Amino acid sequence: MPVVNRRMVAMRIVVLVSGTGSNLQAVIDAVQAGELRNVDIAAVGADKKGTYGVQRSAEAGIETFVVNFKDYADRAEWNHALTQKCLSYAPDYVISSGFMRIVGEEFINAFDGTYINTHPALLPSFPGAHGVRDALAYGVKVTGCTVHIADAGVDTGPILRQEAVEILPDDTEESLHERIKVVERRLLIATLRDLANKAEAAH
Ligand code: GRF
Repeated sequence: MPVVNRRMVAMRIVVLVSGTGSNLQAVIDAVQAGELRNVDIAAVGADKKGTYGVQRSAEAGIETFVVNFKDYADRAEWNHALTQKCLSYAPDYVISSGFMRIVGEEFINAFDGTYINTHPALLPSFPGAHGVRDALAYGVKVTGCTVHIADAGVDTGPILRQEAVEILPDDTEESLHERIKVVERRLLIATLRDLANKAEAAH
């Protein structure tokens, strides 16, 4: 009987980070453990030198790059360089995982509908760089995290997954953010699994 060899088609992603990349590490672990068997991390990039996110990716044997914001004359030039660099990996999706820089129109147009962001609040509440701090300061009793398709706005675009996290009376920004990140990692991995399975089914 002939053996039918179904070639596995992996979904290629580029992950962008600005900091420690602990959420990214969860994705790397999930790929290595076979939980995201059809996801290929083509590269990890950062907007500045010396991030732990890039270091830990290199240690995991993943290709890395830095498009250093400070090396460019203006935002448009930096945005162009970042767009070209990401395009060079021909990714199916680009993931902003703690990437703290707003990308411009050229980037959004190049990755229209395929640029995914995670945010540590229940959007549309508390967008921006301090989603955890702002939720605490407002005094809401429940916050959470959001995985969404990013458009040209700040933390706007169609929501893919969201989950609530309760704020405890003695929470600090740090303790709350750590609890949110535990959920954020799970949602990001679940989102990637959904997208990869859809892509595989479409082939
Ligand atoms: C995440 O909560 C992300 O949503 C926010 O920054 C955090 C990234 O943390 N913008 P890490 O770099 O993955 O540890």
